[in-house]
Amino acid sequence: MHHAELIDLTRRLPKAELHLHIEGTLEPEMIFALAERNRVSIPYASVEELRAAYAFTNLQSFLDLYYAGASVLLQEEDFFDMAFAYFERAHADGVVHAEIFVDPQTHTQRGVPVATVFAGLARARRVAFERFGMSSQLIVCFLRHLSEADAFDTLEACAAHRNEFVGVGLDSSEVGHPPEKFERVFANARAMGLRVVAHAGEEGPPEYIWSALNTLKAERIDHGVRCLEDEALVAELVAKQMPLTVCPLSNLKLCVVNDMAKHPLKKMLDQGLAAMVNSDDPAYFGGYLMANFAACIRALDIDEAAVRKLCANSIQASFMPQAWKAERLSDVQA
Ligand code: ADE
Ligand code: ZN
Repeated sequence: MHHAELIDLTRRLPKAELHLHIEGTLEPEMIFALAERNRVSIPYASVEELRAAYAFTNLQSFLDLYYAGASVLLQEEDFFDMAFAYFERAHADGVVHAEIFVDPQTHTQRGVPVATVFAGLARARRVAFERFGMSSQLIVCFLRHLSEADAFDTLEACAAHRNEFVGVGLDSSEVGHPPEKFERVFANARAMGLRVVAHAGEEGPPEYIWSALNTLKAERIDHGVRCLEDEALVAELVAKQMPLTVCPLSNLKLCVVNDMAKHPLKKMLDQGLAAMVNSDDPAYFGGYLMANFAACIRALDIDEAAVRKLCANSIQASFMPQAWKAERLSDVQA
């Protein structure tokens, strides 16, 4: 099958997106529109000038712009507009279900109540389900560069909205902020019945993946690409069929890999790891889910069987009920 044909097929297959930061879907055009609507000033003269600043050298260089971009989000309708724009694009890419990260601390630190954030996202999720039949869940992430106490405060503020989200995650600056810093917060979250995921092994070493598994009891590892440096860890992740939410264009843009042809996704599949494709922060990294698949299909030796495996892994690794998964998994094989 030619690349173009395989890309078309991939678009038609049902897929779940499991690693998507909603604040990372804020396109430059929307940043400018919301800045004007909310009378927030931004230090860029034009959409083109802002987009030109998206030349990242590592995770932190991206995070600085990502948090600055989020400063235009103030009202319920801002969160609605941002999230609904994502759902439209994801639906066009054949995403049938999305488990979406939100960073409450990015907003509460600016005086935006968590209730405003949840209300806008909930309305967008509802409309996406009604209009596209697309299901979704929210995962509240703690910013790991902030303190354990701040994470506890965030969990407590979100507890009032407990039925708005299914789980907790860990994101932001990885190196220097190992998972065990949040061991007690995650224990409390698990006691609340929340599912647990964590970013680990993006820029951080394999030890952080071990810690996410053993101290946080993570059920999925976000990124996890650096697991390949530790043979025993790979064996453990394969044995457990631990999902790894890989984000190829993110890894390229943040210089985790310096060439798409050197991306480890194919190698991960070949070793039996339960990897799948995600878009992370698509407004900043050059495209949504299908752009990620297309880049992998073109640069790596990803064939139809591998594409179907990636789609199946995404469905299987979601937090949806088993009956729902079984139906989509049979569609992936059909
Ligand atoms: N926040 C948004 N995207 C992120 C990523 N790729 N890694 C860590 N924190 C993030
Ligand atoms: Zn991420």
